[in-house]
Amino acid sequence: MPEKSLFELSESGRRAWSLPGLDVPAVDPSREFGDLARAGNDLPELSEIDIVRHYTRLSALNHHVDKGFYPLGSCTMKYNPKVNERAARLDGLADVHPFTPETACQGALQLMHELGEYLKEITGFDAVTLQPAAGAHGELCGIMMIRRYFESRGETNRDIVLVPDSAHGTNPASVMMSGFRAVQIKSRPDGRLDPDELERECSDCVACLMVTNPNTLGIFETDARRICDIMHARGALVYVDGANLNACLGIHRPADAGFDCMHLNLHKTFSTPHGGGGPGSGPVAVRRILEPFLPVPVVRRLGNDEDGRYYLDHDRPDSVGRMLDFHGHFGVMVKAWTYIRMLGAAGLRDASENAVLNANYVRAGLEGVYDLPYTARSLHEVVFSGSNLRKHDIRTLDVAKRLLDFGFHAPTVYFPLIVPEALMIEPTETESRATLDAFVAAMRAIAREAAEDPDRLRAAPTLTPVRRLDEARASRQLDVNWTPEAGG
Ligand SMILES: Cc1ncc(COP(=O)(O)O)c(C=O)c1O
Repeated sequence: MPEKSLFELSESGRRAWSLPGLDVPAVDPSREFGDLARAGNDLPELSEIDIVRHYTRLSALNHHVDKGFYPLGSCTMKYNPKVNERAARLDGLADVHPFTPETACQGALQLMHELGEYLKEITGFDAVTLQPAAGAHGELCGIMMIRRYFESRGETNRDIVLVPDSAHGTNPASVMMSGFRAVQIKSRPDGRLDPDELERECSDCVACLMVTNPNTLGIFETDARRICDIMHARGALVYVDGANLNACLGIHRPADAGFDCMHLNLHKTFSTPHGGGGPGSGPVAVRRILEPFLPVPVVRRLGNDEDGRYYLDHDRPDSVGRMLDFHGHFGVMVKAWTYIRMLGAAGLRDASENAVLNANYVRAGLEGVYDLPYTARSLHEVVFSGSNLRKHDIRTLDVAKRLLDFGFHAPTVYFPLIVPEALMIEPTETESRATLDAFVAAMRAIAREAAEDPDRLRAAPTLTPVRRLDEARASRQLDVNWTPEAGG
């Protein structure tokens, strides 16, 4: 049964308000406001409780992280402390207009400057921009800076970026959008990059390698330093996709391994829910050699001997320019700042250790039940394969859909592409052992059902408000308008 719209729930004469009678002359709205007056527009008529219940019901139809476990690998759907949302809503922060003069928004600039300093400390890099709107946008920004770097050296022959076959789809897309060519590098059977393959592939036409660490199999690139040395020896740079930094906070600093440039996903690692179309933030951190190319403006602080004032530095002749209007998604920065200050260095490290512990707990619970094509130690996520269920004519998609009946969101499926029937599970650090046990039990029950009652899986989900959708059509032809039925 589809949910009714407010128009269908409407009952003539119902009101969500009750006001005392007028003690001033009545005004004819159409005379005052002309066509803008709403009288006669047939708006729905409902009581307050009807409206509250309607929206409360709608808010609970979809699965979301405040409702249940959401182990979507690579997307890091962790629970975000509500206090961070409150901080971002504080009037003095939420109401800062982007045209506010610098002298009147010193607090906001200070927050951005401090956040940049924390990110430098956490990653080991020398300079940072907070401007990019999301991870993919950060990638584009970083690769554009690398392009500008080689142009400034007259090395315009370098038009190739090497990208491993396990990369997130945004990596090759960012490479292409910044005018380079992406050349795929095959991973080793253990899921890691092969330094020997890089030796073979890296020529003087290569601008950089774009590697994710930990990679999308949840595996740490243990040869990172050697990989960077190989690239640097050929005059190329190394970009690290740091979207998975939530596995390494306080444990590994990417700059120490020799990487030159990285983006971070604030909305995965430092609070702010990932996905759902809301704003994200993809700061880019760089080594000194790339600093001149950072987008304008950069938030700076005058030296202590002056007045310690914060200002926006626009005087950057080599900059790649602006990546976004104004200064990036400030609300996300406030949440990240709050999160970092709240946890502190020890707390951030704890968060990463718990993310890794939880992924390995789930891995131990499901090994032998689902295939594990890459057995190297997992960090914050583990990638299984549902290939062993193919003999029952069951696909990974069926497992994903059946999980909804157990009250769990599915893991990421069919990514990374190098794993057939991939099931990429990222439990995150915020889940309790009891939740992980319940999830493992559900996954085990589903594997049993695949053998004993496969039709049940193929019919799933049966307990959700809508059954199996044509997901491609639902996202490509999204229809969020209510249209009255003809003649209704
Ligand atoms: C490894 C990796 N790289 C890049 C991205 C792109 O980030 P965004 O979705 O913010 O554009 C993601 C997304 O989570 C990711 O997991």
